[in-house]
This record gives sequence, C-alpha cells and structure tokens, in this order.
Amino acid sequence: MPSRVLHLLASAAPPAVDLVDVVWHAQAEGWTVCVGLTPTAAEWLDDQLPALEGQTGYPVRSSAEAFGVREIWPRADVTVVAPASLNTVNAAALGLTPNFVAGHLTEALCLRSPLVVMPCVNSAYATHPQFGRSIEILRASGARVLFGEGGFQPHPPGEGDRKAYPWHLALGAARSLVE
Ligand SMILES: Cc1cc2nc3c(=O)[nH]c(=O)nc-3n(C[C@H](O)[C@H](O)[C@H](O)COP(=O)(O)O)c2cc1C
Repeated sequence: MPSRVLHLLASAAPPAVDLVDVVWHAQAEGWTVCVGLTPTAAEWLDDQLPALEGQTGYPVRSSAEAFGVREIWPRADVTVVAPASLNTVNAAALGLTPNFVAGHLTEALCLRSPLVVMPCVNSAYATHPQFGRSIEILRASGARVLFGEGGFQPHPPGEGDRKAYPWHLALGAARSLVE
C-alpha cells in the first residue's frame, strides 16, 4: 500500500495507553500516522507523548490550533477514533465539539470523510439511552462503527481487559476504506 495518512484519535478509556504499539502496527502496514487525544487521554498518556511524537514525526494534538495558524498535520485518508468513550461517541453524534477529538470527529462526519469509530464502553454504559441513538446516528452519517458483532463487545463493569481491545479490527476497517 502506498503511504496513506491515518489520523488516530483516542479518548480516555484504558486501551489508549497502548497507542505506542498500535502506532507501530499501523506504520508497519504503511500508514503515516498522526495521533490526537482528548484532554483527559492526553493527561493519561503524558509520559508517552514524546515517544508518540518521535514515532510519528508529528505533534500529538489535544487542543484546537490557534486561529489563523496553518494546519500542521497532513490531510487524513482515514480517521480512526479508538478507543471512543461514551462521552466522545455522544458528543460527536450530537455535533458537539468540546475538545480536539470530538471536533475532528464531528468535522469528519460533516464532510463525509472516511471514518472508523470503535467504542470502548462497559455493558452498563452501553445501556445509556443516548448511546444506542448515537451509534445509529454515526452509522447513518456514513461512519464505520465497530460495535457489537464484528466489533468491540462491551464487558461487564470492572471486567474489561484492555489487552483484548480489538485494535486489529479498527486497522482492518481503515485499510478496507482505502483499498
Ligand atoms: C480508569 C478509568 C477507566 C475508564 N474507562 C472508560 C471506558 O472504558 N469507557 C468510557 O466510556 N469511559 C471510561 N472512563 C471514563 C472516561 O475517562 C470519562 O468519561 C472521560 O470524561 C471521557 O472523556 P473523553 O471522551 O473526553 O476522553 C474511565 C475512567 C477511568 C478513570
């Protein structure tokens, strides 16, 4: 695959702490990767930010750029939002842009750009009435939402295994969007 650009955006759910490995995998598949984080995820990954920037060659972004400043990332061929928290899924479905990741996701939806969203929620969060509506809205807007069969399967509260988060499905979906 010729080098394509992947915007890999993560919110504050445990699999986010494995992003360094995920970036290696994506780069091994030929992607140029740019990493974006919600402010909470950026706090969690604070000690990994230099490694992620060294690995990708691009700043890790977690805040909107200043008005009038030129875009520092190359344009995405595909945007992957994973892990997508309940908060981030709902924000994007409602068109809310409280932070960099939600804003980027909302923009990708509005522009109908290739977009993969893989939630990470426990089975209790998944019953929140807005969550199901948000998944439907994202799908109806053209996003590939990897949730349920063939995607992330919610776990009972307190029983999540971050190592079981199916990153390969997110990268596979991204690949399928550019092949
Ligand atoms: C240890 C820990 C694990 C969490 N796991 C999840 C999770 O798997 N899914 C989720 O939606 N929220 C989870 N949360 C809650 C989110 O971090 C929280 O709602 C946060 O505000 C999400 O913000 P963001 O979407 O801007 O990253 C967790 C919080 C903590 C402290």
